[in-house]
Amino acid sequence: MSFNTELELQLELQKFPKAIKLKDGKKATLRPLRAEDEKEFHQLFQGIPERERMFIKHRVQDLKAVSYWCKNIDYGRNLPLLGLIDGKIVGDATLHQQLGGWKRHIGRVSVLVHPEFRGRGLARALITEIMDIARRAGLEKVEAEFIGEQAAAVKMFAMLGFRQLVRLDDYVKDMQAITHDYLLMGLDLKTDEEYAGVGG
Ligand SMILES: CC(C)(COP(=O)(O)OP(=O)(O)OC[C@H]1O[C@@H](n2cnc3c(N)ncnc32)[C@H](O)[C@@H]1OP(=O)(O)O)[C@@H](O)C(=O)NCCC(=O)NCCS
Repeated sequence: MSFNTELELQLELQKFPKAIKLKDGKKATLRPLRAEDEKEFHQLFQGIPERERMFIKHRVQDLKAVSYWCKNIDYGRNLPLLGLIDGKIVGDATLHQQLGGWKRHIGRVSVLVHPEFRGRGLARALITEIMDIARRAGLEKVEAEFIGEQAAAVKMFAMLGFRQLVRLDDYVKDMQAITHDYLLMGLDLKTDEEYAGVGG
């Protein structure tokens, strides 16, 4: 699993920055996160409404947390792929990998698009790209985690071929200690996506 060598990973990342066209005709650029993106990456999370931010697993409102990610970039473990419009970071999809251990063949995908830039196909483009990378890294499966209220995201992942693997009622807690349902969705990179029209 995972890229065998640093060189393989570097070769994979050579195709970035990549220009894409969104549904509204506007251009966007996809490229991996860089150390100098710290402030702008933090800004992306600041632009997410409070009610949505509490669904994010990490303390993204904390500049220190974001700063730590930017200073300790390890694409083999966490590969944040950014979406930029007019040079501004407006979205991110990250491929998380467990190097070694019993989940070494499973990548985890998370995605976020700034509210102002939703509905233009950016999340779809980012996830499709991340799934391509995951496949070439030799991963066999990808999974994504949600809380029950993330209906739009669940619907979108289902359209991309993900199916529900687990649903646990009142399993996770938000920052206000209110419980929410937990959902795990997954896709088999070797079979499922042939039927899902990924990348279409
Ligand atoms: C979910 C999210 C990433 C979607 O981003 P986006 O850029 O608006 O998504 P896209 O425009 O690429 O839409 C992809 C597909 O999902 C569908 N979709 C997106 N948002 C939807 C919504 N609110 N309701 C219904 N369908 C929706 C679109 O119709 C689209 O289908 P199409 O390509 O056939 O038209 C965005 O709403 C978000 O950041 N939500 C908060 C974070 C989150 O829930 N992340 C997921 C946890 S990993």
